[in-house]
Amino acid sequence: MRKPLIAGNWKMNGNRGLAAEMLQAMESSLDQTSADVVVCPPFSLLQSVGECFENTPVFLGAQNVHAQLSGAYTGEISAPMLNEMDVKWCIVGHSERRAQFSETDAIVRQKVGILLQNGIQPIMCVGESLEEREAGKHEEVVVEQLKNGLSGLAADDQLRCTIAYEPVWAIGTGKTATPEQANSMHLVIRNQLAELSTEQFATKMRILYGGSVNADNAEELLGQSEIDGALVGGASLKTDQFPGIITAAKG
Ligand code: 13P
Repeated sequence: MRKPLIAGNWKMNGNRGLAAEMLQAMESSLDQTSADVVVCPPFSLLQSVGECFENTPVFLGAQNVHAQLSGAYTGEISAPMLNEMDVKWCIVGHSERRAQFSETDAIVRQKVGILLQNGIQPIMCVGESLEEREAGKHEEVVVEQLKNGLSGLAADDQLRCTIAYEPVWAIGTGKTATPEQANSMHLVIRNQLAELSTEQFATKMRILYGGSVNADNAEELLGQSEIDGALVGGASLKTDQFPGIITAAKG
């Protein structure tokens, strides 16, 4: 049985006060849920959000990392730096970074590697654009991203990765994939993971869905056999939404 994982991606939003407000709002959901809960604030808030979540079950996550360990990379943050902040998870290959910051599959693969070397679990995002889906290429695109992003990893390293399927057309649009569309892609992903390592490993890996998840649609999405959690954007900033998504995650 896979333990559900609910991760909030604050993107370039939030402030010091939000973590405390969210913690208060999440209190009873955290008591009830069997899920792992991760909050990924912007880099500048890692310290204060981390302090707020100290001695709570909420894990601290980051939204990005540089592919190198250190050096002349002005404005960037390395995996050892995240480790020092007690960051346990890190999103890589988000479609916004692929589209706006030219993050290629090769860079994603390097970032996955550097995170694993530093004891941080990658949440690797994959997902197709609307044009790719309309052209019937969605599965092919996602499989390619998976193969490239995880290429050459040892099976036990692959097992430490979480995959987030985020169809680009569903992000921030209010248009979610139907539970059937999402579940069917998750099955494609799991089959590919099995090819990359073994079926036994693939069965243990968590595959999250992301794209307009909210407190109203979470239960149905999370009720699908292959959906093991959610990567939540906009609703992770709302105290009347995120707790409901956590409650909807049943192990
Ligand atoms: P929304 O939940 O706002 O659609 O964003 C999803 C996302 O990109 C999470 O990483």
